Amino acid sequence: MTDSAEPNSTDSRIENAKNILAKVNVKAQPKVLIELNRLARSEDVSFDLVADLVSQDVGMSAKLLKLASSPVYSKGQKFGSVQEALMAIGFEEFKTCFMSVTLEDFLGSMGYPYKGFWDHSRRIAIYCREIAKKFAKRYVNNAYTLGLFHDVGAVLIPLYNKAYVEHIHRTLPLYFGITELEYKMVKTNHCAVGELFGQTWGLSPAILTAMRYHHKPENDTKWTKETTTLKAVLQLAELINDKIERDSDEFASFSPAKDTFAWICEYFETTPSHLSELERHLSSLEK
Ligand SMILES: [Fe+2]
Ligand SMILES: [Fe+2]
Repeated sequence: MTDSAEPNSTDSRIENAKNILAKVNVKAQPKVLIELNRLARSEDVSFDLVADLVSQDVGMSAKLLKLASSPVYSKGQKFGSVQEALMAIGFEEFKTCFMSVTLEDFLGSMGYPYKGFWDHSRRIAIYCREIAKKFAKRYVNNAYTLGLFHDVGAVLIPLYNKAYVEHIHRTLPLYFGITELEYKMVKTNHCAVGELFGQTWGLSPAILTAMRYHHKPENDTKWTKETTTLKAVLQLAELINDKIERDSDEFASFSPAKDTFAWICEYFETTPSHLSELERHLSSLEK
């Protein structure tokens, strides 16, 4: 193996990702999110406490109400207060909504090195949620969270290596050669950096593993069903997004995406023609 070839073991990538995160001084999970997760662990989540907590930050509450009132979460209702939104959409959805505005705010403060980045993350998150609703209902919220965070490492690496900006657009779609290219450049990749960042934000192990391998076609038999399912949901979201963006009649124009697509169809016991219906639904969603 040459020095620049990506190793099979993920250890050095994670070590190098740690160095990047340490150098760019990325802050850990915001305090309000930590507190929200703490409240979520209690048996009976107090909506009053949640609403009080979130309402403390007027700017964030306004962004939250805007997103909660959008077609992503609401069926046409416009919410005037955090309490009202919480009651209508339920705590789990509310938490993903809060996570979304918090992450957007955080990334905005870093300054996006690639302007299409957040649009891609949000779109893929919405697609992941709709795909999970159809094929893996119990993972709907984790699928959405995975979509939001899956490429976050691509925003963090340029803070450490400016030349990396040129490569960001290639990390967004399901391009299987990207991690090797990134390894040559920064001795790690956006998946490993994103995984470590996600850890500090308290994401679940299933989400983190799916994030680490989202540009890999293969799966590991030791993974939990949730990890395998989340990875399949994310990769399908990327493939459908790619088809919509290319305005093409065909899914997965390139190899090994074709094999991955065939595996996903088998895993979800579906067919390309059924997925075309889902694609029409996804492309009709107001983002
Ligand atoms: Fe990616
Ligand atoms: Fe992506």
